[in-house]
Amino acid sequence: VYRSIFSPATAQQRAANFESYWEYLKHRSGELDERERSLSTKKERLERILSRRVLSRTPLSEDIFRRNCIRVVDDPATIPRKELLLANMYRFANHEAAAINPAWEATVPLSKARSITDKISRYHAAEEISHGILFREIFRTFHVEVDWAPVDEATQRAYRAFARAPGILLNQPAFLCELLGMVFYRFIDSLLDDCLVDEPQARESVRDLFYEIMSDEACHIGNRRNFLGPLGIRSARLLLPRMCGWQFGDMPDNLPSGSYRLDRGQMVEQSLSFAYNGLPSRVMECAWVPSYCQV
Ligand SMILES: [Fe+2]
Ligand SMILES: [Fe+2]
Repeated sequence: VYRSIFSPATAQQRAANFESYWEYLKHRSGELDERERSLSTKKERLERILSRRVLSRTPLSEDIFRRNCIRVVDDPATIPRKELLLANMYRFANHEAAAINPAWEATVPLSKARSITDKISRYHAAEEISHGILFREIFRTFHVEVDWAPVDEATQRAYRAFARAPGILLNQPAFLCELLGMVFYRFIDSLLDDCLVDEPQARESVRDLFYEIMSDEACHIGNRRNFLGPLGIRSARLLLPRMCGWQFGDMPDNLPSGSYRLDRGQMVEQSLSFAYNGLPSRVMECAWVPSYCQV
């Protein structure tokens, strides 16, 4: 059982949690290769997952997937659920991919990082880069090669400004992005069984890849929470609905469609009540949770 992610924490507690998270990160993600922007143990884990990966028996209807992966243009009711699910995953992953380059450039190389939070942020950026690779492998499981599509100029500018913003402006939205992302991932996870029912083996491979992303994100939520003081945590709650509208503005209001519903109101509610409880045990197995969220 865990406490709310919005649980109060003292400045000393937060300082101690940064220390413990940094120790955890080095252990979990291994050595950072600055040139390759990769982390050693994450790379090994990906290789292990890929060595046991099973490709789908039938390929995706690629034209339907591609036509709807930036914006849903067909009537969602006519899109097969597998294609709809993967198109929604692509749309989210594409935003992540667009945000990551500015984020990497805004952090300092490990050799120049002075504070513990600088070091953590460099690792965090490298982990986000690995998510792009993991997502591409998810699509490859269905015989589809994807590239990331450029996002519009305004969004790109927003990502750049966001990455360079001082902590006082960046910390709340950064925390909320991680939190809302996890709510979205949990929703996607709850659809996998149903949407990929005819591909039981490929589905398990997708889950392996997806849980690798989700376990990082579970840690990111705690890390980004730890940047916030009492005032920050209070205003983060107030900012949540606006942030949700911004981050998921290009998703159909009910996504993916029909009987699978997650509207923005629900996303906000689930974010406000987030406490790590109910996350898949494989995701939580080796996740880092701030001490003040543990009972
Ligand atoms: Fe991510
Ligand atoms: Fe993240």
